[in-house]
Amino acid sequence: MASAAKPRLDPETAYEVISPESYAGWDPLLDTFDRLREDTPVAWVEDPEGRHPPFWLVTRYDDVMRISKDNATFLNNPQTVVFSLTEGIEFAKNLTGGSPHMVASLVTFDAPIHMKYRKLTQEWFMPKNLRRLEDEIRALAVRTVDRLIEAGDTADFCKLVSQPYPLHVVMQILGVPEEDEPRMLMLTQQMFGGQDEDLNQSGMKDLPPEAITKLVAGAVKDFEAYFAGLTAEKRANPTDDVASTIANATVDGEPLNDRDMMGYYIIVAAAGHDTTSASTAGAMLALARDPEQWARVREDRSLLPGIVEEAIRWTSPVQHFMRTAAEDTEVGGQQIAKGDWLMINYVAANHDPAQFDSPRTFDASRSPNRHLAFGAGAHQCLGLHLARLEMRILFEALLDRIETVELAGEPKRAKSTFVGGLKTLPLRITPA
Ligand code: HEM
Repeated sequence: MASAAKPRLDPETAYEVISPESYAGWDPLLDTFDRLREDTPVAWVEDPEGRHPPFWLVTRYDDVMRISKDNATFLNNPQTVVFSLTEGIEFAKNLTGGSPHMVASLVTFDAPIHMKYRKLTQEWFMPKNLRRLEDEIRALAVRTVDRLIEAGDTADFCKLVSQPYPLHVVMQILGVPEEDEPRMLMLTQQMFGGQDEDLNQSGMKDLPPEAITKLVAGAVKDFEAYFAGLTAEKRANPTDDVASTIANATVDGEPLNDRDMMGYYIIVAAAGHDTTSASTAGAMLALARDPEQWARVREDRSLLPGIVEEAIRWTSPVQHFMRTAAEDTEVGGQQIAKGDWLMINYVAANHDPAQFDSPRTFDASRSPNRHLAFGAGAHQCLGLHLARLEMRILFEALLDRIETVELAGEPKRAKSTFVGGLKTLPLRITPA
């Protein structure tokens, strides 16, 4: 039987689950998710400061899985898919002439349009096609590890490896020349790191929400200007990269309009970068804390896929997505009304003890490991094979060249409710 009353979170817990700082603090937030999964697995959250629209927070694995797979009842398009400030949503509506989405991309589309757009690049992201990129990716990995080793015995792994490497890969598949990468790095960090003063390049602490919204809008504009030039180039001289596929694609016989095309580039550039950075840094943190595991996997590379998969679950870099109920429905025994906004929280789902034994333990031998870090259903991550491939190739290069690795200081996480993870990871390494 579904209950009618709304189980509201108390203001303190509501504040905790929506503040970027909690995601930087991590463990206390995981404690709160443990409590909520037990008490209030589908909880109504009202921002005590009234700056965000209210929503349902969903923390159990089974409920997150069900919502993700039921793409007819739980839609992506009606409201923003990322938890946003009311002011930011209004700003986007003004800018776009009514859409709450600053960028129109795969994650903001529903059926039937969604699949038409997804199909354009789906084959490109399949393992069969990616195989031909392995040598190029390996060359990038080796160069990245060279730079780490040249830096001496202590270095920040995030700055030297986990941030630049996935950016290089994604820029390579988009066909963006290397000299333009710093601009792309700054833009993706402004779009996704807006809540963290070290990542948004603002140099300001506690940026006010209006400034964050403007920063993101400015980054979108700059991205659009950049990719307009790239489209012209890829139409004139198409190659086999993703940008050429997008620039020359048609849907229902028509080329993509500018907004849709830009959205496609932006999602590939942005989705493929910070996410893989975070899971790569997380894998390295787990290995730096466990020297025996490092030594074991150096000897036996068959352990590597398990490490990669567990790092993706353990870090859950995409911390949530939002959905909107298409009709009155029910989740975990709770009545949900048509139009309600729901947060499917991947961090909470991937730490659900009903699905994962000792979920906070990094266990490379975890099997099965059916985590939800890539989502599920129609929107499941398009780049999941690429993310795994990139991580495996990078760790092969690291294991080949580094004998021992240990922590050389306190790692720090980014303040972000959306894409999160380590922003610094000081390491001491001994080359092989
Ligand atoms: C969608 C996670 C890497 C491209 C998603 C979603 C998640 C996710 C949770 C939404 C799934 C859903 O709604 O069910 C991750 C993680 C990554 C990663 C954790 C790294 C460890 C990548 C890479 C690319 C990429 C490398 C491409 C270069 C996309 C795209 C979508 C997406 C295009 C939208 C798919 C759609 O809406 O149909 N990703 N991602 N991702 N991801 Fe990833």
